[in-house]
Amino acid sequence: MNITGNTIFIPGATSGLGLGLALRFQAAGNHVIVGGRRTELLDRIATEHPGIDAVQIDTADPSSIEKATQQVVAEHPELDTVILMAGIMEFEDLHTADFLETAERTIATNLLGPIRLIAALVPHLSSRPSATIMTVSSGLAFVPLPATPTYSATKAAIHSFSQSLRVQLADTSIQVLELAPPAVATTLLGQENDPHAMPVDEFLDETMSILEANPDATEILVDRVRFLRFAEAEAVSTTFSPCSAVVFDRGEWVRERLADSETGTRCSGGGEEERREPEEDLGRRGQHIQAEQHSCHREQQRAERIADHERPRRSSLITRRALPVLSTETTR
Ligand SMILES: NC(=O)c1ccc[n+]([C@@H]2O[C@H](COP(=O)([O-])OP(=O)(O)OC[C@H]3O[C@@H](n4cnc5c(N)ncnc54)[C@H](OP(=O)(O)O)[C@@H]3O)[C@@H](O)[C@H]2O)c1
Repeated sequence: MNITGNTIFIPGATSGLGLGLALRFQAAGNHVIVGGRRTELLDRIATEHPGIDAVQIDTADPSSIEKATQQVVAEHPELDTVILMAGIMEFEDLHTADFLETAERTIATNLLGPIRLIAALVPHLSSRPSATIMTVSSGLAFVPLPATPTYSATKAAIHSFSQSLRVQLADTSIQVLELAPPAVATTLLGQENDPHAMPVDEFLDETMSILEANPDATEILVDRVRFLRFAEAEAVSTTFSPCSAVVFDRGEWVRERLADSETGTRCSGGGEEERREPEEDLGRRGQHIQAEQHSCHREQQRAERIADHERPRRSSLITRRALPVLSTETTR
């Protein structure tokens, strides 16, 4: 992707990474159209940043997608890029009655939304001399977070869909990019003040540098997401352990725990979280942390049993890699 001279539609740009990228792309010499549900934010962005246009869109609603994409194409026939940023992430607990509703909402927004947008925009984009579709997955596409199973699954699906889309559109002018962020400090899951999440500006700086330096890149991976992107290939992990679920996808944390595991079978994720954030301040999130601490203990016991029974075949794996990060199915 050439990072200048484009007309870029970003559904999901009223806040966070979408808004950040909108401003970076405008500064880099592109015409940007931001989209989202919150009209007061759309109005404010358009007022505060002359040159940026705004379109209201609910990407969970097929009729809204149809209306908004028709409007964008009619008002901006030079449109050649879409960044499919709109997404939601909510804690999902299979033990609660609202699990299914949350899961379905997540699929409608994070998976059906991008697919419907792509279907609506490919005819126009393929008429442009060169065009770009940027999908937005996550490090959690590659190492799922048990506290957000449907979210992680939608991001894995976006990764898979992007791969097929790239092949199917190879005979068109459309380039398919996949942006896979690590945990970044936005309000997505309330991690805006989390010191372990990547600061938004650092993420945007690195992302723009990658795009500028590698116009033919297909996956946009900042350094902090690479350990997740290649985790399975490197047999480092196949899922976050319950005890690491609360800490999201923090590279440093995982690496620290890998170092801990060199010396034994310790599982200390919940403890760290508890010290940093007293549970009574956390509301619903605190309940998850508490639940995960129990799981953490169970996992430790299970891992110790495996370590006992499966030596010597798996002992080096257990002590070297498995405990703090992994479920027990890692077999290499
Ligand atoms: N931050 C991270 O740690 C992280 C990591 C990996 C991937 N991601 C992905 O990055 C994307 C942006 O997330 P963020 O961190 O920037 O979170 P955010 O600040 O909450 O931004 C989410 C954006 O999506 C829009 N959106 C949500 N539902 C929508 C709907 N039904 N229709 C239209 N727009 C909708 C929101 O706008 P309105 O509310 O105005 O509609 C908002 O602009 C998401 O796809 C997320 O999964 C984020």
